[in-house]
Amino acid sequence: MGLLLAVSAGILASCNTNQAKNNATMTDSIAISKMLPAESGFEQTIDGKQVKLYYLKGKNGMQAAITNYGGRVVSLLVKSQAGNMIDVIAGFDNLKGYQESSSNYYGALIGRYGNRIANGKFKLDGKEYSMFINNAPNTLHGGKVGFDSKVWDAVQPNEHTLELTYHSADMEEGFPGNLDVKVTYVVTRYNSLEITYEAKTDKPTVVNLTNHAYFNLNGPGSGTILKHIMQINADDYTPVNKDLIPTGKIESVKGTPFDFRAPLPIGDRIDADNEQIKFGHGYDHNYVLNNHNAQIPVATVIGDKTGLILKVFTTQPGVQFYTGNFMEGKFKMKGGFPDAHRTAFCLETQHFPDSPNQPTFPSTVLEPGKPFKSITLYQFEKK
Ligand code: BGC
Repeated sequence: MGLLLAVSAGILASCNTNQAKNNATMTDSIAISKMLPAESGFEQTIDGKQVKLYYLKGKNGMQAAITNYGGRVVSLLVKSQAGNMIDVIAGFDNLKGYQESSSNYYGALIGRYGNRIANGKFKLDGKEYSMFINNAPNTLHGGKVGFDSKVWDAVQPNEHTLELTYHSADMEEGFPGNLDVKVTYVVTRYNSLEITYEAKTDKPTVVNLTNHAYFNLNGPGSGTILKHIMQINADDYTPVNKDLIPTGKIESVKGTPFDFRAPLPIGDRIDADNEQIKFGHGYDHNYVLNNHNAQIPVATVIGDKTGLILKVFTTQPGVQFYTGNFMEGKFKMKGGFPDAHRTAFCLETQHFPDSPNQPTFPSTVLEPGKPFKSITLYQFEKK
């Protein structure tokens, strides 16, 4: 009898602890879901297509909110060293914020051609194609209405995954070929956001797909990213002219403010007396990655206030390191904080800018019957 009592007391105690744990987990998940923007801020019909906000969960606690409006990464919640969840994405809690700030491409999927095409023109198989000049004198991030402002078809096969598809018709924004694009976002058990890009065409064309997520590893309202520690695994970069078009040269970063082979604070040389820095108004340059096998990080960043570490892996040959030099504080982001100058950075994995006009750069030509596929991972760790 005594034993029975003791056993049942034990069971009761363990029930109580389990219940306490469950309650704690429930309180945690309520607190966490409150950190994610509400669906209602995104529900709208554009051109007959439903815009929505999708929530993704990884097995290890990481969470994401992504909208099918431009496939934008709205939030990424990551656990910090101190145990609290940090939203590492600079973004808005409603669709309107993204529409009003469209020229900043916050969190968006970029296409057909990420980055610049000089004078909005290129030749393919002897024929010249012209695009809309939206960043005079060049075309930037796909033209007048790029993939960032399209409503993508969305399927959520499980709680970790979001599949987005978009059909870009022949000659949309001046690019030849019917292009079918699929982007799959997965929040993995290893605390990473994995992005797989796939594209196929029915005529030769050019394509350069990327994501324009703005990160601040210290969280919203934490100020600039100038004290974040940056390391980029690249010996070379592609210097540009004053309109940010590559000169065609591939130059060593050695002895320049672009040398991030050893970890350094982003802000140390961001305003150096250097022509390239002046052209970019800070960092806005393509790095030629030493390896792009998705096995070794191409960049590692540490948030100085949270100790959160971001490691970027990719199969793409380049990465555009952009320090939010054109963030002007005009728009109110999540939490009511303005999108102030250099309060976020981007690491846009990509083919090199203006490749269609640069014969020495890796080719961005896509041929029918030879589908394109690339993978980029943004992985988070604690110090
Ligand atoms: C470009 C910047 C541009 C920014 C727009 C970056 O990818 O390199 O020059 O201002 O996108 O948000």
